[in-house]
Amino acid sequence: MAEPFLNAWLAKRDRPQVVVLGNEKGGSGKTTVAIHLAFGLAAAGVRVGTIDLDGRQGTFSRFVDNRRRYTLNEQDAARMFFTDHRRITLSRNAQEDKAGDEKLVQLVTALDSLSHCQYVVVDTPGSDHILCRAAHVLADNLITPLNSSFLDLDALVRVDREANQISGPSAYSEMVLYMSEARGEFGADPIDWLVVTNRIPNVPTRVHRDVIGVLRKLSERLHFSFLPSLHERVIFRELFLKGLTVLDTNRHETSTPQTLAAANSAREEVEALVDGVLAHGPLKKLAADRAEDRRHRQPTRKRKSAISFENFNPTGR
Ligand SMILES: Nc1ncnc2c1ncn2[C@@H]1O[C@H](COP(=O)(O)OP(=O)(O)OP(=O)(O)O)[C@@H](O)[C@H]1O
Ligand SMILES: [Mg+2]
Repeated sequence: MAEPFLNAWLAKRDRPQVVVLGNEKGGSGKTTVAIHLAFGLAAAGVRVGTIDLDGRQGTFSRFVDNRRRYTLNEQDAARMFFTDHRRITLSRNAQEDKAGDEKLVQLVTALDSLSHCQYVVVDTPGSDHILCRAAHVLADNLITPLNSSFLDLDALVRVDREANQISGPSAYSEMVLYMSEARGEFGADPIDWLVVTNRIPNVPTRVHRDVIGVLRKLSERLHFSFLPSLHERVIFRELFLKGLTVLDTNRHETSTPQTLAAANSAREEVEALVDGVLAHGPLKKLAADRAEDRRHRQPTRKRKSAISFENFNPTGR
């Protein structure tokens, strides 16, 4: 029933770039990355729509509510960036297929109403199969945040650690590859799959290095590339209740030198992530201009953060 719309959407020439945050493993950082990416793109001057598919938790939508509430009390709120936000609500229909249809209609309506945007960022729940599958087929860019542990790697592949072998793709990876192919039938490019390692330990660990080594090998087999990583930083959690991102911290919440330093590092990471995503879409020039601009603004500053896989050689240890 929603299929004709999804097909027509994929066949459209002039439509927003759809970026989907996906990983069946819960708690990997989908919402955190979705929030920072969406508001980071908005801060870069991009017209951004956001869709929260997670009707049960609704974390992204609560963030948006918190942000709106915050702006009521703050003078410089007028300078804060917003996205055009839509949320998919839970269905009251007890019949699973009908409830699924209802949610698909909501997704289609939401997407249609965001046609004026340049980017639409979609946050998915770990589990809702119908909505998640629909979102994945729509994904021009799929971003999968992963924590650097073998447990998290399990979301992509089955790893036999004893034999030091990968025994096959996970059900999630198979779904992504299948959806990527399905897009081709409607004349759309395959999914551009981007992995971001999240919550990188601040003190390097052996497990982290091993996980990165495996991921590098996997990137060829599963056809994904890497975005700049995010470190484990308390500040990513702290600002949620105020509806702020680390990109707002140059104006807010930086009372001590320590919080200022943490906010600066986190902001650099997020900006690198935003540019990484832009470089994989239709606004590549904007990414290049922003990177150039930052180089001019901070000529002597040493970049400690924004460590990406590109700098890491797993065979060199
Ligand atoms: N880089 C980070 N540093 C510190 N905490 C983080 C970081 N990324 C995410 N978190 C925290 O980890 C928890 C899970 O993150 P998040 O809600 O973004 O994951 P999720 O994949 O959306 O989860 P779910 O599958 O339940 O929707 C949250 O408490 C979040 O604040
Ligand atoms: Mg979430």
